[in-house]
Amino acid sequence: TRIVILASGSGSNAENIIKYFKNSNLISVVQILCNKKEAKVFERAKRLEINSLYFDRAMLNDSDVILNLLKNNADYVILAGFLWKIPSKIIEAFPNKIINIHPALLPKYGGKGMYGMHVHNAVVANKETETGITIHYVNENYDEGAIIFQERFNVLPSDSANDVAEKIHELEYKYFPKVIEEVIVGH
Ligand code: GRF
Repeated sequence: TRIVILASGSGSNAENIIKYFKNSNLISVVQILCNKKEAKVFERAKRLEINSLYFDRAMLNDSDVILNLLKNNADYVILAGFLWKIPSKIIEAFPNKIINIHPALLPKYGGKGMYGMHVHNAVVANKETETGITIHYVNENYDEGAIIFQERFNVLPSDSANDVAEKIHELEYKYFPKVIEEVIVGH
């Protein structure tokens, strides 16, 4: 089973997934697509010997370049820190085959603009007593696809947004590859 990862953050989740499947004889990460020229994603891909490609909004939305690349290379598309909305033509080509991770307990703290530290700042500002991660299928509506997995933890009054971010990343690294594997093996 072939995975293509779409990333645009620092790529730490992408790296974690690649490492997890490095010796798998069932699942392989074949490529990373990134929409940011300066993202650390490319350095990680090079070091991990994974094919990577930069793409821009026009390639994602206006042409079929990315759609065809995914059709030819991917059985599953994994979004790791990817913030652009996936065009419908790609979602239609990959029903329940596009999986995203969100650093909060959707439907709370979801939607456009709610990513990275914005989420953790809001969680702390609102004095939430818990937060966590959500892994979900991607559909036409941003952050609203069917939820596959959630893991939560208690937010302490003494926790800063950075403390929360650290705990979230720990959960992401611990669970994202495992949940992807269960979805793929489970099918
Ligand atoms: C992660 O917190 C993920 O939940 C969110 O964006 C962040 C990406 O971090 N979608 P990284 O680029 O994988 O380090």
